[in-house]
Amino acid sequence: MIKKALLTLTALTLLASVAQARTWDEIKRSGTIRIATEGAFPPFNVMKGNQPTGFEVDLANALAKQMGLKVQWVTQPFDNLLIGLNQDRYDFVIASHGITPERQKAVDFASPHYCTGGAIVTRPGGPMTAAALQGKKVGVQVGTTYLQNVSKLPGLGEVKTYPKDTDAQAALMAGRVDAWVGDRFTGLEVVKAQKGKLVQGDLLFKERIAMAVKKGNTSLLKELNAALAKAMNNGTYAKISNEYFGQDIRCR
Ligand code: ARG
Repeated sequence: MIKKALLTLTALTLLASVAQARTWDEIKRSGTIRIATEGAFPPFNVMKGNQPTGFEVDLANALAKQMGLKVQWVTQPFDNLLIGLNQDRYDFVIASHGITPERQKAVDFASPHYCTGGAIVTRPGGPMTAAALQGKKVGVQVGTTYLQNVSKLPGLGEVKTYPKDTDAQAALMAGRVDAWVGDRFTGLEVVKAQKGKLVQGDLLFKERIAMAVKKGNTSLLKELNAALAKAMNNGTYAKISNEYFGQDIRCR
């Protein structure tokens, strides 16, 4: 699994040097920005019929509006998102990517649009701490920082990977794994929805989440950062964050 993840990143780094990303001028002239997300990571990015929605989708739509652009959304499995970015299939990705040194070799990250962490969720009586995960089966979404961090824990029984985060949650509900490690805000929501059938355990790590552009696309990165800063100052960000989380989840 780790080997496969490393291979993917090497391939990504190589691809980064081939094609040419659209510059800010080219995007502006076309009038439409192409944004990619997964659409299976509630409440951040999720499908409503065939339209993506969620905190990150609303935020990106607001940023595009500020930049005077129409949006064309593209959805891809999470594990393909950064590869497609480096193949110029879209201009940027917003899909809750944590900023990691490995990913920074392949893409450029914008300023973080929220701060969060990876937390354990289990059935009542299940493992609530990193120590308690020893010898246990843990489910995580493939290609994520959850997989990366959980793999580092000593004595873990087994790590099972799933294409979607919601598949890992379903595996926990069905008893196929002892715990699911996922986003702390997602975990809170899932626990609440399951009314006593699940509980949230410890936060295992913290991360800063950001949009990604193709490596070297500095003109687009600059515009995105400016648009995000503006949204964070003019109340737009706070409004969207409050709608989804009842609080402002920006990094402090
Ligand atoms: N924050 C985690 C990471 O950086 C998970 C992101 C998963 N995003 C998604 N759209 N499924 O890997």
